[in-house]
Amino acid sequence: MPEPLIEINGISKSFKGPEGILPTLREINMSIEKGSFVSIIGPSGCGKSTLFNIICGLITPDTGSVVIEGKNVTGQRGVVSYMPQKDLLFPWRTIIDNVVIGSLIEGRPVEESKKRARELFGVFGLEGFENSYPATLSGGMRQRAALMRTVLCEKPIMLLDESFGGLDAMTRRNMQAWLLNIWERFQRSVLFITHDIEEALYLSDKVYVLTERPAEVGLELVVDLPRPRVVTSPEFVEYKKKLLAALE
Ligand SMILES: Nc1ncnc2c1ncn2[C@@H]1O[C@H](COP(=O)(O)OP(=O)(O)OP(=O)(O)O)[C@@H](O)[C@H]1O
Ligand SMILES: [Mg+2]
Repeated sequence: MPEPLIEINGISKSFKGPEGILPTLREINMSIEKGSFVSIIGPSGCGKSTLFNIICGLITPDTGSVVIEGKNVTGQRGVVSYMPQKDLLFPWRTIIDNVVIGSLIEGRPVEESKKRARELFGVFGLEGFENSYPATLSGGMRQRAALMRTVLCEKPIMLLDESFGGLDAMTRRNMQAWLLNIWERFQRSVLFITHDIEEALYLSDKVYVLTERPAEVGLELVVDLPRPRVVTSPEFVEYKKKLLAALE
């Protein structure tokens, strides 16, 4: 077994709401191997984004720990790169200025990052849009820009929260195939939240299914299929049935 890059050990979290305590995550355990693509799927409101907020240190869990490369990093920021549920490009900054924001925040030389970023605009399908503003890009392009910013952060793992939500089916398909290319090219580990069973199976080495809130891990499913995956193949459909059963 390869050593896990990230271990999520017994994470629980409750929030205080207007109607009292809101238990959200209950004893979540996960393990993500280096270089792997892992998806999390679960009903709306079960606590997926909360788990990401805990992994990236924005929220402290009530119990449990986040361990990355053997180090306890619970509550620490700046360890992972995170693409939040909304693409959150700054409308007043050009695309190039948006994608290097991580360097700016961390005090790394911005000109160097820009040089590296310019070389990647072609890879991300954004050639010629370096000096454009987000409002002039399509939804898919904005998401690719947000993803490029996440890749440029150069952390050992990228957390992607519903990166393709809100895209039409065809754009979404293209983006999935394209994301796999990026993943293979940059050899980054990815933790990916989605609502879409087919998307999870098409992309992932492993899928975690969370239950209704308070979320528990309902199923850990290793997807042992060669890529590129054919969504209509009998093997793929078998995996789909397993995920559907776990989500019922
Ligand atoms: N900072 C907070 N304070 C209070 N309650 C919160 C906070 N963050 C999240 N919650 C609550 O925790 C629950 C889980 O929210 P979360 O955003 O993690 O769900 P999700 O699984 O990402 O949902 P979706 O699939 O719709 O994005 C919700 O009931 C939400 O209202
Ligand atoms: Mg969410």
